[in-house]
Amino acid sequence: MATMQAARVPAAGADFELVDLPIPEPGPNEVRVKVEACGICHSDAFVKEAAFPGLELPRVPGHEVAGVVDQVGTDVTSWTEGQRVGVGWHGGHCFTCDACRAGDFINCANAKVTGISFDGGYAEYMCAPQEAVAALPDDLDFAEAAPLLCAGITTYNALRNAGATPGDLVAVQGIGGLGHLGVQYAATFGFEVAALSRGTDKHELATNLGADHYIDTTADDPAEALQALGGAKVILATAPNSKAISQLAGGLGRDGTLMIVAASGEPVEVSPMTLIMGRRSVQGWPSGTADDSEDTLDFSALTGIAPMIETFPLSEANAAYDRMINNEARFRVVLEPGA
Ligand SMILES: NC(=O)c1ccc[n+]([C@@H]2O[C@H](COP(=O)([O-])OP(=O)(O)OC[C@H]3O[C@@H](n4cnc5c(N)ncnc54)[C@H](OP(=O)(O)O)[C@@H]3O)[C@@H](O)[C@H]2O)c1
Ligand SMILES: [Zn+2]
Repeated sequence: MATMQAARVPAAGADFELVDLPIPEPGPNEVRVKVEACGICHSDAFVKEAAFPGLELPRVPGHEVAGVVDQVGTDVTSWTEGQRVGVGWHGGHCFTCDACRAGDFINCANAKVTGISFDGGYAEYMCAPQEAVAALPDDLDFAEAAPLLCAGITTYNALRNAGATPGDLVAVQGIGGLGHLGVQYAATFGFEVAALSRGTDKHELATNLGADHYIDTTADDPAEALQALGGAKVILATAPNSKAISQLAGGLGRDGTLMIVAASGEPVEVSPMTLIMGRRSVQGWPSGTADDSEDTLDFSALTGIAPMIETFPLSEANAAYDRMINNEARFRVVLEPGA
């Protein structure tokens, strides 16, 4: 039996183990992808720490996948061998639960989440339902495209649905994998962009990515600093720390939205008076569908937006993950299983 290399989580909190697994056979509705690149998302910590409902270990994580269709199942109509594709978080596609009927496939009650419900992209091959697959434009490099399948789509989709229009002040909090793409999308959408980060390390990088303002949240109160700029129409919160997010709502202007994409489990505090005075709101956003992924990929190809990446072979998955979790990556770590 032909085998492949994969990096998987054997037990809660354990290091990734490098294993030889059988190359998976696609089911009737599945596409097998030869993985060229897979980004390491902070949400992979849910797998590493066994903190996601329904997760069973061992599991191969990875939901920022770019590669080539290698084989298709008997019922697959939309994809053919040799096509360049991406696979993101997906969610599910039962089409019958309340979420699916409302078009909210990411929150499908019969979840099929890449790298959580089934093995993901920390491997040389993976199988995905055909509904989860997005077409990858020819001019996107695999390693640069991979992070767009989660960090990209999440920030692109949250920002385009948050209610800001060109010229509005939009803040991006947390300049990591998501945030550094969020700054680029916000700038390209024509917003006045404020980057919020801890310390001064990322000042020059954020400016180069398109930020008009830089707020060091260890030196200045972010709400006061944003009010001094007129108040934000949207604050995109990407830092996985609820205390840090709780400091932000006071920085919103009239009808402003605190758009939370960071997946912290702790409660966020916000004063009702802060919301009432200025008609402000707090909202969450889950990444998006394969169709949203294609919008993100096409827009990125059109405008030249790309993540800043550090690439690692699959055999160095532990070192690569550590760079992400220790906030050392500038800005997204990408595994290259074929390298
Ligand atoms: N909604 C969704 O669909 C979705 C999709 C993908 C990811 N996520 C979630 O979004 C979050 C960010 O993911 P990511 O991949 O961008 O992570 P990341 O690359 O690790 O970046 C997170 C950034 O947040 C800031 N940060 C980290 N720890 C912090 C702390 N303790 N206090 C304050 N700030 C902190 C850091 O920015 P500074 O150094 O600039 O302060 C860091 O660079 C995670 O919670 C992830 O699970 C959600
Ligand atoms: Zn992700």
